[in-house]
Amino acid sequence: MGPDSAEVKRAEVRQMFASIVHRYDLLNRLLSFRRDVFWRRVAVTHGQIPPGGRALDLCAGTADVALEIVRQVSGVQVMAVDNCEPMLVRGLQKARKAGVADQIRFVAAPAELLPFPDDTFDGAFVAFGVRNIADQRRGLEEMARVLKPEGRAVILEFSTPSSPLCRSPYRFYAHRLLPWIGGLLSGNRAAYEYLPASVDGFASPEGLRILMEDAGLSGVSFVPLTFGIVTIHQGRNAGHRG
Ligand SMILES: C[S@@+](CC[C@H](N)C(=O)[O-])C[C@H]1O[C@@H](n2cnc3c(N)ncnc32)[C@H](O)[C@@H]1O
Repeated sequence: MGPDSAEVKRAEVRQMFASIVHRYDLLNRLLSFRRDVFWRRVAVTHGQIPPGGRALDLCAGTADVALEIVRQVSGVQVMAVDNCEPMLVRGLQKARKAGVADQIRFVAAPAELLPFPDDTFDGAFVAFGVRNIADQRRGLEEMARVLKPEGRAVILEFSTPSSPLCRSPYRFYAHRLLPWIGGLLSGNRAAYEYLPASVDGFASPEGLRILMEDAGLSGVSFVPLTFGIVTIHQGRNAGHRG
C-alpha cells in the first residue's frame, strides 16, 4: 500500500470508528456474548507486565485493554494510543469513572508513527486493531521499536475457526446476523459489514506470525481461543533492529 492509499484508508477507518463510538462497547459485549471481556483479560495476562511497569495499548479505542491492564498490574502506567479522538474521549470518561485516570494517558497518534522513544515499554498490546491499521508492517515495526529488550508484544485479533463444523455457523453469524444487529443499533451497517470482510481479508495466524517476525519480533507463538474465533499472538523484542 502506497503512502497516499494508506492515508485514505487511515482517514476512512478513523471516520468509521467515530461514527459508531456511541454504541461501540455495547455492541462488542452483545455481539460477542461478552466473550470480548474474557479475551482481553487473557491477552493482558500474556503480557507479563511487572508491577510498576509501563505498557502500551495500541489502537486503544475506548480503552478496554488499558483498563484491564490497570486491573491486573499494580502501579502500572499505560499509554493508550489511537488516531480516532472520539474513541479516546470515551476511554478517558471510562478511566475517570473507574478512578484510574492518573494511570492511563491518552494519546492521539497513528500506530505507524508512535511518539515514543525506542525501548520505552515493558509490554505492548493491540486488541482488534492490527487488522485496521493502514500500514500494518509499519505499525508492527513501531510496536517492536518502542518495546524494551525482552518486552512483550501481544496481539489479540479475530481469526477464522479452523474446524469446518464451527466455520459454517460462524460465517453465517459474522456475515448475516452481525451486520444486521450492528447496523440496527449503531446506525452504520457498513461498519459491521466491514468487520467480517476485514477478518476474511486479514492474515491467517501463521501469516501474522511471519508479519510479526519480519517486523522485528522474535519467538512469536500463538494460541486460539473460543474455537479459533480469536487468536492471541505474542512475541518479544529480542533487542535487535532489522
Ligand atoms: C476495533 S477497534 C479496537 C479498540 C480496542 N482495542 C478494543 O479492544 O476494543 C480498532 C481501533 O483501532 C484504531 N485504529 C485503526 N487504525 C489505526 C491507526 N493507523 N493508528 C491508530 N489507531 C488506529 C481505531 O480508531 C479503533 O479505535
